Amino acid sequence: MDHILVTGGAGFIGSNFVHHVVANTDLRVTVLDKLTYAASRESLDGLPADRVSLVVGDIVDAPLMERLAGEHDAIVHFAAESHNDNSLHDPSPFVQTNVVGTFSVLEAVRKAGIRLHHISTDEVYGDLELDDPERFSERTPYNPSSPYSSTKAGSDLLVRAWVRSFGVQATISNCSNNYGPWQHIEKFIPRQITNVIDGGRPKLYGAGQNVRDWIHADDHSSAVLAVLREGAIGETYLIGADGERNNLEVVQQILRHFGRPADDFDHVTDRPGHDLRYAIDSTKLRTELGWSPRFTDFEQGLADTIEWYRAHEDWWRPHKQAVESAYAAKGQ
Ligand code: NAD
Ligand code: DAU
Repeated sequence: MDHILVTGGAGFIGSNFVHHVVANTDLRVTVLDKLTYAASRESLDGLPADRVSLVVGDIVDAPLMERLAGEHDAIVHFAAESHNDNSLHDPSPFVQTNVVGTFSVLEAVRKAGIRLHHISTDEVYGDLELDDPERFSERTPYNPSSPYSSTKAGSDLLVRAWVRSFGVQATISNCSNNYGPWQHIEKFIPRQITNVIDGGRPKLYGAGQNVRDWIHADDHSSAVLAVLREGAIGETYLIGADGERNNLEVVQQILRHFGRPADDFDHVTDRPGHDLRYAIDSTKLRTELGWSPRFTDFEQGLADTIEWYRAHEDWWRPHKQAVESAYAAKGQ
C-alpha cells in the first residue's frame, strides 16, 4: 500500500488522521472533501505537498469516485454529515452523504478492486442505561436513535453487504466520542471551551447526566491505521479508550481550568431523543491487533485541547456568532 484516498480529510477526525499518517508512515495521501461548513483547509496546513494533495469534490459524484478509486491503493472513508443536532433539523444531507455517498464509495471500490476502511460510530448501537454493566461490543445489535446514527448504521450495513455479496475488501470501525484539535465549535467540548473563553457560560442539555466515552482523535487515528494494515477483511472493530464521563463532569473540568466556579453554567433545552450513555469495550482491537491508546489521561488531554482553542482563536472566531445564534433559536 503506497497511496491512499482519505474522504472527509478536511474535517475534524479526517484531518487529524492525515497528520497522523504523514508523521508515522511513508504513505502518500489524497484528501477528497466537499468542504462543507464542517471542513477547514487550514487543518491541512503545513503538510508536505509531495505527500498530501486535496481534491475538492463530493463522494456522491460516482464518476469522480471511480476515477479516484482507480488511482489509489485504498480508501479510508471518513466523509459524513456528523452532527446529531443538525440531523434533527434537516436529515436530508445525512441521507445523501452518509447513505448514498457510501454507496458511491462502495461501487467505486468494487470496480477498482481496492481496499476500503469505513469509519463509523458507536451510536449505531443506540444507548445504555447509566448502571448497565455491559458496554458496546462487536456483538451488540444495531439500534440507532437519531437520523444521524441511523444513516451511519445504514452505511455500515451497505459495507457488510458489499463484502459478502461482491467480495469487497472492506473493514469497519465504530468509535466513541472524539476530542482534540480542529473540532468544529458546534460540538460539545469546543462549544463549551469557546463559550468560556468569551466570558459566557457552558450550555448543558437537560440535567447533564448523559455519558460519553471520550477518546483523543490521535488515538482514533492510530487505531484506524492498525485496522487498515492488520484488520481482517469483513470484520468490525470497536475503538474506545475507557474515557466515560458525564457531560456535567466535563463542563466542570473546563470551568476549573479557567478558574471559574463549578456552578457557572446554564441548563438548556434537552436534545430530542437524547442518547443516555455510550461505552465501548475495545478488547477485540487491543487483543487481536495489539492497539492501545496513548492519551490515557483525559484531564491532561482536555487541558491541551483547551490551550489549542486558546491559541487558535483566528480559526474558530469567524463561526462563533452564527453557531450560537442557531443554538439560541432552539433554546440551547
Ligand atoms: P466532521 O463533520 O468534522 O467532518 C466531516 C468531513 O466530511 C468534512 O470535512 C466535510 O466537508 C466532509 N464531507 C461531508 N459531506 C461530504 C461529501 N458528500 N463528500 C465529500 N466530503 C464530504 O466529522 P468528524 O467528526 O471528523 O467525523 C468523521 C467521521 O468519523 C464520520 O464518518 C463520523 O461519523 C465518524 N465518527 C465521528 C466521531 C466523533 O466523535 N466526531 C466518533 C466516531 C465516528
Ligand atoms: O459517539 C460518537 C459520536 O459522537 C459521533 O458519531 C458524532 O459524529 C459526534 O458528533 C458525537 O456525537 P454526540 O451527539 O455524542 O456529540 P455532541 O458533541 O453533539 O454532544 C456530546 C454530548 O454533549 C451529548 O450528550 C449532547 C451534549 N451537549 C452537546 C452540546 C452541543 C450539551 O450538553 N450541550 C451542548 O451544547
